[in-house]
This record gives sequence, C-alpha cells and structure tokens, in this order.
Amino acid sequence: MSDLALKRDQYLELEKLALGAFLPLNGFMTEDQFKRVVAEMRLPDGAVFPLPVVLDVSREDADRFRGRPKVALSYDGAEVGEIEPRSLFTADKADTARRVFGTDDPKHPGVRNLLQGGDWFVGGPVKLHRRMTLDISADELTPDETRRIFAERGWRTIVGFQTRNVPHRAHEYLQRTALEQADGLFIQPLVGRKKAGDYSPQAVMTGYRALVSGFYPKDRVLLGILSTAMRYAGPREAVFHAIIRRNYGCTHFIVGRDHAGVGSFYGKYEAHAMTRRFDGELGITILRLHGPYHCRKCDGIVTEHTCPHAGTETATEIAGTDMRAMLLGGRAPDPHLMRPEVIKALKGVPLFVTEDDP
Ligand code: ADX
Repeated sequence: MSDLALKRDQYLELEKLALGAFLPLNGFMTEDQFKRVVAEMRLPDGAVFPLPVVLDVSREDADRFRGRPKVALSYDGAEVGEIEPRSLFTADKADTARRVFGTDDPKHPGVRNLLQGGDWFVGGPVKLHRRMTLDISADELTPDETRRIFAERGWRTIVGFQTRNVPHRAHEYLQRTALEQADGLFIQPLVGRKKAGDYSPQAVMTGYRALVSGFYPKDRVLLGILSTAMRYAGPREAVFHAIIRRNYGCTHFIVGRDHAGVGSFYGKYEAHAMTRRFDGELGITILRLHGPYHCRKCDGIVTEHTCPHAGTETATEIAGTDMRAMLLGGRAPDPHLMRPEVIKALKGVPLFVTEDDP
C-alpha cells in the first residue's frame, strides 16, 4: 500500500534525484537545505545550489508521515520509490517566491506553481524503484549513459545546450559558435512541465531532428531530452541548468539572452551576471553568449561583435516569442530566422502545450 501518490512533476523530480542529475543533492530538500538554498543559493556544506527541490504535500499528509522511518511513493497506482521523511516543514511562500523568482506575482508561472502546491514539504533521502515512462522516453539519456557516450566518442570538451523551443537561427548560431571550440555538443531539450503556449516536446524534438540530421556533423552532436519541470526562474535557473549539465558530463554550458526567462520578469543578460558570481565553483565553464540577429546588409546571422548595423533597419531580432506567435497564427517565420526544413518537419505535429497538460 502506497503512502503518497506523486504528481507527474514530483515523480520526475524523484527520478532525477535518484539518477544523479541534481548532484550533490540526492534527496528532496530538508528545511535546513531549503533555507540555505533560498537565502544564499548554497547547500549547508557550501556547494552552490540555486533552486529548491522539494516534495510538497498537504498538512494532513505531513501529519501522517511524522515519526515514520519510510514513506512509500506511488505513481498511477504503482509503487515507484520511497523517501525517508527526515524533515517536515512549511515556508513563507511569498517570501520564497520573491527570493527565488524575484517576484511574488502569480502571473509568473513558477510563482503560480509554488503557490498552488501543498503547504508542507517532506525532505530526506530517496530511493527510486521504477523509472518514469513518457511517450518520448526513448529520447532520454541518463547521466551515466551520456558520460559513457562522450567517452566512447572520445569527446573531452562537451558543450551542453538547454532549450525549451523549436530551434531558430539564433540557437543554431550559438551552437555552431560553441562547436568551433568543443569536441561535441549535447543538445538537451527540457520536456517537463511548461506553461501553456510553450512548444510541445514532440515539436521541439521534431525540429531538432530536422536540424541535426540535415545540418550538423552526426559524430559531433548528441540529442537527448531532460525530463524535468521548467521553473522560469531566469538567472537562478541558468545556474541550475549548468549544474545539471555538469552532472551529465558536459564541460561547458551555453547561457544566452534571457535564459529560462518568461515575459519581462528578467533582464536580457541577468543570467550572465548571476553565473559569473559562481565562476570557478560550478565544475562547468559557462559560455556567456550575446544575442545573434539577422543583418540584411551583412547577409547573415551576426552579433554586435561582428556587425556594425545593430539597431538599424537592416538588423532583425530573432525572438522565440515572435516565432511562436507566427506559428500559432499559421504563418511561417522568415526563413532567415527559422529554417524552412525545420518548419516543414513540424507539419502535422501538435505544436504547443495547453493549460491541461500535466
Ligand atoms: S530557455 O528557456 O530554455 O532558456 P530557449 O530555448 O529560447 O529558452 O533558449 C535556449 C538557450 O538559447 C538559452 O541559453 C538562451 O539564453 C539562448 N537564446 C535563445 N534565444 C536567443 C537569442 N535570440 N539570442 C541569444 N540567445 C538566445
């Protein structure tokens, strides 16, 4: 008999903890860990860790678990793991939101998720008995698997790339720029909970398959999903994403414009500044790259470092939000901004997640 039925996000979190994707964290956060992380972006032993990873429950559940050596965790009726409930605690959610997300505005999807979750948290070491199965699980690689593949391919420098979008030409430019220097590129689209209006996992993977198979050298690029929730925590999440890719064996990680941002909650390059604070401590080198745009006069994708026409009428910004809006309206984005081959591959694929998606 299971003690706690997990939501999909919570199961994915349990799985990532057990697979070592969030190391040095290997269990849901205790109160001690949570407080330090929220206040200082560090675990009690000083290791950098920017975001809470918590198991939220109701007050009734917290009461049931008090004093127990172990709580069995289930998903869809099957037992999938367990937690040793060492710490049962509550937190001031508005204050947590302001510190973690820089706002307590419920319009922010990460804040909304925090506010809507259970008011108690269960922290402690976990065990996973059964892996999660998603309809795109075949595209998922574990940290052990990616490390093995990198070694087999003889890659010593590997750049990790986080994304939640169908690839556009700015993404591609950042990836090619990094590949000029590194042995390999690991493109790892995030496919956990996303806000309504973001691309579906199928759309992102279809777009990437078209890009990788048609335009990248096969032996220098690896594609695999990361199944964890998008938190939209901007600068703090950039640090989180880097730590995760370090755990998958990457040596470098790209942080571009408005990384993990949403709406206008964060400055374009706030994530650059945040990652810089922890340089030398993350175990992975951050490649802080500036926004590429298309320049008609230079006739290509360029940056302010290579083109003098930024801000003039020959320069066109490449904004993912604009492209999503176009595709939603059934219009194809400018081929200079998104490859026609990518757009063509998307035909018939459900493009966006809706409010009802888990
Ligand atoms: S994210 O939420 O996963 O960060 P996205 O898929 O758009 O969103 O971004 C993937 C990476 O590319 C991030 O590092 C982001 O900063 C970068 N990026 C996306 N669009 C641009 C752009 N137009 N200019 C520069 N960097 C970009």
